[in-house]
Amino acid sequence: MTKQRRQLRRVQVEKAPRLGLIRPTPLGFTVTARLHDGQTPDDYEDALDKLAHAWRVHSVRLVSWQPGKVTLAATLVDPLETVAGLEVTADGLLRVRVGLLDNGNPYVIDFRTVPHWLNVGATQSGKSNLANALIKGLAPQPVALVGFDLKGGVEFTPYQARLSALATERAECAMLLADLVSIIRSRMELCRQHRVKNIWHPRLPDAIRPIPIVVLVDEMAELFLMADPKAEKEEVAAVATRLLRIAQLGRAFGIYLFVCGQRVGSDLGPGVTALRAQLTGRVCHMVNDDETAKMCLGDMDRRAVAAARQIEPNRPGTAVVMGSDSRWHLARSVHVLEEEAEAAAGRYADLAPSWSLLTGGPAIDVGELDESEVEEFTEPDLEDLPV
Ligand SMILES: Nc1ncnc2c1ncn2[C@@H]1O[C@H](COP(=O)(O)OP(=O)(O)OP(=O)(O)O)[C@@H](O)[C@H]1O
Ligand SMILES: [Mg+2]
Repeated sequence: MTKQRRQLRRVQVEKAPRLGLIRPTPLGFTVTARLHDGQTPDDYEDALDKLAHAWRVHSVRLVSWQPGKVTLAATLVDPLETVAGLEVTADGLLRVRVGLLDNGNPYVIDFRTVPHWLNVGATQSGKSNLANALIKGLAPQPVALVGFDLKGGVEFTPYQARLSALATERAECAMLLADLVSIIRSRMELCRQHRVKNIWHPRLPDAIRPIPIVVLVDEMAELFLMADPKAEKEEVAAVATRLLRIAQLGRAFGIYLFVCGQRVGSDLGPGVTALRAQLTGRVCHMVNDDETAKMCLGDMDRRAVAAARQIEPNRPGTAVVMGSDSRWHLARSVHVLEEEAEAAAGRYADLAPSWSLLTGGPAIDVGELDESEVEEFTEPDLEDLPV
């Protein structure tokens, strides 16, 4: 008898989950499930596809967990099938609603919480569309926009009226980046004088608070690729160093990066990996290989990579997005015609501060940025940011 009991204990019996109340949501329903002893939320994450088929719904996501309990959200139909009818809107300073998340919430690019973004995808996957959406959403705001368009200017030239500066060649980019580093330097000085850690601190009088600058880069690989390494090495190194410096220090001093590219791998050079680490907001549109998805989303969450690989080519604008909470979502941007973004750029052209105004102040040698200052200012106190 004892022997049989011992044997029985070894038999693994799959137990049905104990489900809580089903609560309807606008897109479907949520339900909590109690974890059996030995189960973890990860076991549910692995079974979400099976649950979706069993429940005959479009998808199931694990939205939260507490010890011993997970909450699942089921979506009856695909909310990203079409995002027509939505408008790109400004949603507070440096925040733009650019589309919809798969849970029905707005898809927001918020530079105040995530200062720098990497936007990756195969050709025609919707990268530039997202940049257009940002231009449309940021144009009415008191921010300066700067374009780095290494596709010879075809992407951003239509928006030039609202841009404070536009660079279309690598040499121009190198100069603009040097200017941006100078701007950081003078803003650092301003913050030091007022004993604040960043330009958003309430102790800094509004009248002298510097205007935030959003830098949009289209096709970043062009910044790093060298046809003739001997001749171009120095320029590429200068671009890489300045870009990295801006990424490290920009947040505290109101300079934000939105970098688009088809591939952003270490094959572009050693500077790229360091830069990528600073671009903490990630948008991965449809890509042609696992490696690119991993480069963008990191090896941490294989499910995010798998989700990015499942994006179909006939759904441009769809992307896996990782923002401030390090959780990923499927999202789709609103289709923004170039004409719409151009119209917004024209309408708000008056809000574009001139480059000379932005770079005003004492001329500073970029090469002299003191590393000790870098240390001091890299970690601004987030609580200082007014909400
Ligand atoms: N959110 C969207 N909804 C519907 N259609 C979209 C969306 N985003 C992009 N598109 C369509 O897909 C096409 C390609 O988009 P886009 O130019 O943004 O791609 P891309 O990734 O920048 O490509 P490339 O690398 O070639 O520049 C656009 O012409 C547009 O018609
Ligand atoms: Mg493009």
